[in-house]
Amino acid sequence: MIVLGIESSCDETGIALYDTEKGLLSHALYSQIALHAEYGGVVPELASRDHIRRIVPLLEQAFGEASVVPGDVGAIAYTQGPGLAGALLVGSSVASSIGMALGKPLVGVHHLEGHLLSPLLAEKPPVFPFVALLVSGGHTQLMKVEGVGRYELLGETLDDAAGEAFDKSAKLLGLAYPGGPEISKLAEAGRPGIFRLPRPMLHSRDLNFSFSGLKTAVLTTLGKEKTRENGQTKADIACAFVDAIVEVLATKCLAALRQTKLDQLVVAGGVGANRQLRDALGRMAAQKHFRVFYPELEFCTDNGAMIAFAGAMRLKQDPGAAHYDYGFTVRPR
Ligand code: KG4
Ligand code: ZN
Repeated sequence: MIVLGIESSCDETGIALYDTEKGLLSHALYSQIALHAEYGGVVPELASRDHIRRIVPLLEQAFGEASVVPGDVGAIAYTQGPGLAGALLVGSSVASSIGMALGKPLVGVHHLEGHLLSPLLAEKPPVFPFVALLVSGGHTQLMKVEGVGRYELLGETLDDAAGEAFDKSAKLLGLAYPGGPEISKLAEAGRPGIFRLPRPMLHSRDLNFSFSGLKTAVLTTLGKEKTRENGQTKADIACAFVDAIVEVLATKCLAALRQTKLDQLVVAGGVGANRQLRDALGRMAAQKHFRVFYPELEFCTDNGAMIAFAGAMRLKQDPGAAHYDYGFTVRPR
């Protein structure tokens, strides 16, 4: 069966066609990053309008590249939430319209389930069960994943998400939005150990996180230095920030593997693209004998492929998940 996937929860419009036998046939993506950059964050109304502008051309592109016609589609998977309500409504209304026109069923996908399962699209996928670290702009969670739909929350952030901590700290350092990749780049020019920032909840004995204090520590350090224009100082602070957040994330991943007695770790979500995090987990995996899996780099951030795939997995598990109710709903929260 060919599943059409539609993602529009935030600032990326993603469309993909996934064949349950042949795998991913095509995917098309448009990122609105440039549109929101001057505002320092995503502007919901602009995001909705841009999804409307992009979604049909992306559908045409994905169908063209896969040499598939709409009539070949067996089901339509779309991101139902969480995300920006207006943005989600664009994807869900387009999904419902296509479903109604073709008489094909819909399946609403949880955005995080898309991220969670995205490493299974890689060439060398993990096998169930595994521990997953979900680190995006809106979420930070550790999960035990026993199969499709069988998820146990092991721990999560009590305040800011990891990506949010990256973005907010980057903003304090005067870097462009989204700050995650920028602060990571700047950190490479920093000297390790010049500054030391706190490692929140490192020894909390549970698998929860807290990152809001880290951004405050960046602000305080910047203030003390009174050299905001000094490039080297900023790079040193960026380096201290990345060291702190990476140490907390990696340490909790190891604790989750020990607690569950599993030896496969999956890292998904935008922050999973972070080079320093990947290096640290790679070193730890070699020392502590576990394996780490990532989605292909292009599927770390939001995309349609993970939604098509999660929809296909869900339908395989439970054909009853497909519905013909075209009176669409979204679940922003
Ligand atoms: O998963 P994602 O694309 O969207 C959400 O569902 O939130 O994640 C976006 C987040 C942003 O906070 C962004 O700054 C962060 O992922 N990010 C990174 C990197 N690439 C993206 N953070 C650190 N290092 C990166 N290389
Ligand atoms: Zn996401």
